This record gives sequence, C-alpha cells and structure tokens, in this order.
Amino acid sequence: MTLIEARNLPSHVGIIMDGNGRWAQQRGLGRAEGHRQGSQAVRRIVRAARRLGLRALTLYAFSEQNWARPEDEIDALWVLLREFLLSEREEILDNSIRLNAVGNIGRLPGVVRAVLDPLRNESSKKYEMTLTLALSYGGREEIAEAARELAAEVAAGKRAVEDVTCEALHARLPSLAVGDPDLVIRTGGERRISNFLLYGLAYAELHFSDALWPDFDAEDLYQAVASYQNRERRFGKVGKAAPLVPELASEGGAPRESSPALLVAV
Ligand code: FPP
Repeated sequence: MTLIEARNLPSHVGIIMDGNGRWAQQRGLGRAEGHRQGSQAVRRIVRAARRLGLRALTLYAFSEQNWARPEDEIDALWVLLREFLLSEREEILDNSIRLNAVGNIGRLPGVVRAVLDPLRNESSKKYEMTLTLALSYGGREEIAEAARELAAEVAAGKRAVEDVTCEALHARLPSLAVGDPDLVIRTGGERRISNFLLYGLAYAELHFSDALWPDFDAEDLYQAVASYQNRERRFGKVGKAAPLVPELASEGGAPRESSPALLVAV
C-alpha cells in the first residue's frame, strides 16, 4: 500500500516508456509483442492516473529518432496505436479525458490520423485530465520550431528582438500547454532523458524505475508519486529547511511543512 497526499499531487506527469524490446527479448518473443504488452501498460497507467486525479499525463510513445527503427517495428507500433485509440475511445470520453498529441503529427500514417484527429476534437469539449501522446516527437525539434516561429515574427516586424523571452518561447511549445512537467518517470533502468520535454524539464523531479514498461503497474506509478511528494522543490531558491544561520537550526529552525491531513491510500 502506498500513501499519497491528495493535496500535493504533481499536476503534470511525463513518462518515458522504455523496455518493451527487452521485455520481449527476455521471453524469446519479437519486439512487436513487447510493444503489444506495452500498450496494455498504457491502458493501466492511464486509468490509474485518472483515478489519482492527475491533471495531465504525457506519454512518450514515439520519438522523432524512432523513425530510424526497422519498418516492420514501426508499422506494428502504428497498428497498436490505432487499436488503442479505437478500443479506448469510449472510456476516454466517459471519463472526461482529453486525448491530445504533440510532435510532428503530419508525419504519421493516414490510418492513425483518421482515428487520432476526430478523438482529439471530440474529447476536447469536457475534460478533467489531458492525456498527451508524444508522437514523432523531439524536444529539440519542438524548441527549434518555436524559435523559427519567433524569428519569423521578428523578421516580419511583428515582434521586437527584446520580446523573444523565455515566456514567449514557452507559449509556443505545444507539449507545455498543460504546464511544465512536475514529475518525469523513465522506466527500463536507463537514466537519461532522450529528447523528451526538454524545455519543460528545467525544474521537473525525475524518477527512474528499473521496471520494464510492460511490467510497470499502478503501484509503480503510485510509488513514483509518493517519492515526488517526499521531495522539496526549490526552483533555484533556498530550501525551507535550510536556515541562513546554522545555530537557528538547534532552536527548531524553519520547520518543514506539517504533515497534510488528507492522505489517499492506494
Ligand atoms: C521504448 O521501448 C518504447 C517505444 C519506442 C514505444 C512505446 C510504445 C508503446 C508503449 C505501445 C504503443 C503505444 C500506445 C500509446 C498505445 P524500446 O522498444 O526502446 O525497449 P528496449 O529499450 O528494451 O529495446
């Protein structure tokens, strides 16, 4: 059982879903089977995130660099994504989930766009959680695109050079329309970011899980959230618990925020 504070939830959680290939390899199966089990994990984790009350969940499903994988593996991923969108459509709508996508969506095959676009539109009317799929996505590519847009406005005389600010750039990044990620989880044991949500990661808390993505379950998500809640986010400032004059610490110093009254046991 994991205890989670109801009032201190991360608003936006991003997940780098890694380890499908190794999961399959360990069982002597093809990589496509690993992705199939991975898509079951997507279903579980979306449900768990909604139950928990997260406002935004962003899943890194296909990077811009993943186009370099073998064609049959890429095709299998599009089939799974299409199946996921078709089979989860009702549950997404019934549970007030807005399905969104970020990345180079124009590069996706028509069979995926044909189910993705209508669901994006339909689910945007009434929602309490945004599920964003990062598809053909790259953090550097997204920043470069935003920079191009701002440069074009400067060149056209619509924006002053001084107005190319952090805020202006942020406002042009579709992946951050739901806010910066508070918590980014990576499964599969690697400790790297792999071009995910680069600009928004500035003050995100990172959580690395050794579980391969197909094995990642609701309890793993809850543990990641509980670990997030035990951290002190400082955003470059001095921590609440660190007194300027050390002697003050022995007199009690600045106490950490008291324990919350409301806990959710999951
Ligand atoms: C990384 O594991 C995973 C991917 C590149 C694809 C993620 C896709 C899914 C979870 C399934 C379909 C998605 C949806 C939204 C239904 P890897 O293949 O790099 O694993 P490895 O590092 O073990 O080789």
